[in-house]
Amino acid sequence: MNTGRACSRREFIHFIGGITATVFTHTVAGKNKTDIPFIQASSEDAVILADGLDYQLLVSWGEPINSGGDKFGFNNDYIDYVRIDNNPDDCLFWINHESVSQGYFLTSSEGALKSREDVELERREVGGSIVRISKSNGQWKVNRDDKYNRRIDANTRIPIIADAPIHGETEALGTFANCAGGRTPWNTILSCEENYHYYTGEVSLKGKRTLIREPSVGWDRFYPMVPEHYGWVIEIDPFSGQAKKHTSMGRFAHESATVIVAKDERCVVYSGDDKTNQFLYKFIADEPGSLEKGALYVADTLNGSWLLLDVKTNPKLEGYFRSQLDMLIRTREAGALAGATPLDRPEDIERDPETGSIFVTLTKNKGANRPYGSILKIEETNNDPLSLTFQASTFINGGESTGFACPDNLAFDVAGNLWFTSDISGEQLNYPPYSKFGNNGLFMIPMNGQQSGQVLQLGSAPVHAEFTGIRFSEDGRSLFISVQHPGENSADKNNLLSHWPDGGNSMPKPSVIVIEGDLINRFCV
Ligand code: FEO
Ligand code: CA
Ligand code: CA
Repeated sequence: MNTGRACSRREFIHFIGGITATVFTHTVAGKNKTDIPFIQASSEDAVILADGLDYQLLVSWGEPINSGGDKFGFNNDYIDYVRIDNNPDDCLFWINHESVSQGYFLTSSEGALKSREDVELERREVGGSIVRISKSNGQWKVNRDDKYNRRIDANTRIPIIADAPIHGETEALGTFANCAGGRTPWNTILSCEENYHYYTGEVSLKGKRTLIREPSVGWDRFYPMVPEHYGWVIEIDPFSGQAKKHTSMGRFAHESATVIVAKDERCVVYSGDDKTNQFLYKFIADEPGSLEKGALYVADTLNGSWLLLDVKTNPKLEGYFRSQLDMLIRTREAGALAGATPLDRPEDIERDPETGSIFVTLTKNKGANRPYGSILKIEETNNDPLSLTFQASTFINGGESTGFACPDNLAFDVAGNLWFTSDISGEQLNYPPYSKFGNNGLFMIPMNGQQSGQVLQLGSAPVHAEFTGIRFSEDGRSLFISVQHPGENSADKNNLLSHWPDGGNSMPKPSVIVIEGDLINRFCV
């Protein structure tokens, strides 16, 4: 815990991105110098890091990534990579571009007022970027015009892997709302379509197909889209740029798709539905080396049971859906019918490399008076991801006593410590009940040593930004992070809440940074 505890305190000046920030770094009183320093919550418009950490900017929104005119998209989120020529210092990165902030960031109009040109511009900002990032002379750099660099966006035609056409089509127009994701053992990347309904609206397929939610971002005037073509996990080969949408893992507000290889080499994929009172899912592939076919389960966390979603074996599902594909398109309805446990918005998922436990962030449930969220621990029976039973428990609760609220993205470092980020909504930052938490942050829970189990804040994001997509390099010495939506809730261009990263009166820019330093290196020995 970083509150309510005696601290020795020293003040120092930290130079970051041209912005000078006064930071108070704390070291636990009475402990030796191997203690991990941490910071207090901050409301400054800067990336502030604990003593022993520094960052550099890697790539920002709008920067060219090749000579063909492709640019790095908006609101970067999930980050992952595969080696090129088996070199861990020369990687092809996939970076999600989750959303287009509405208003003056991209166009001057919103919703139905957008022109076709506005919509065309926005459709190029979402999806993902493939960029080669390599380390030379100790520094990570983007190779700005590499042959592999390319964009996938809302205009990319993507095949849908399904038993039958969906609404008469076998491919979808584009991908968007790409939040978190995963990586397969065969070096492809998984990217999850989360809040697609803002772009497409939503339909009910009970009886007559009916629009039950209107899209809100205004693309539909020029691009009427089929909602059933979105909300899937897409798989991308970063070398070829080829993508496909899997229906096997269900359709919902897919936050992440965390891949674990089972002892028989089949892949197990954990995924949460980031909506209040929605569910946690597990997919077990039929065959090694593919995610196209398999069994989808939903979690009953009260009884520790994975419930199979199969219309052939579950009479409740058989009588309700027309086919297994109809059920996969309407996965939420299937989960509820099967008896899944509603959760407080499951977001990212990671497996503890030491114990094999599965950690799931539950970001919040204000309606249920759980505004601070928690981290859920799933212990599969025999530590086996193929197990159909498990024990669920709360690993840690957010709140003023633990010093964090609304946990979102997770990553384990090479020493097995748990790092995570927070996502308090922009309009709620620094207001009750979140007044004490400052801006969103980067946190770490040591898993052993004197500070084991304590929550240490190691970073603070710029105003109205969120740290997302946290991913360590293979050697564990570099931490890649997206700084997403800085200044998101600014009133207008003349009243910007954030000027990060360029400072002055500049427009804020979503960017990828890489954090390095002694504080990380100490976990790599
Ligand atoms: Fe895209 Fe649930 O965060
Ligand atoms: Ca998230
Ligand atoms: Ca979130």
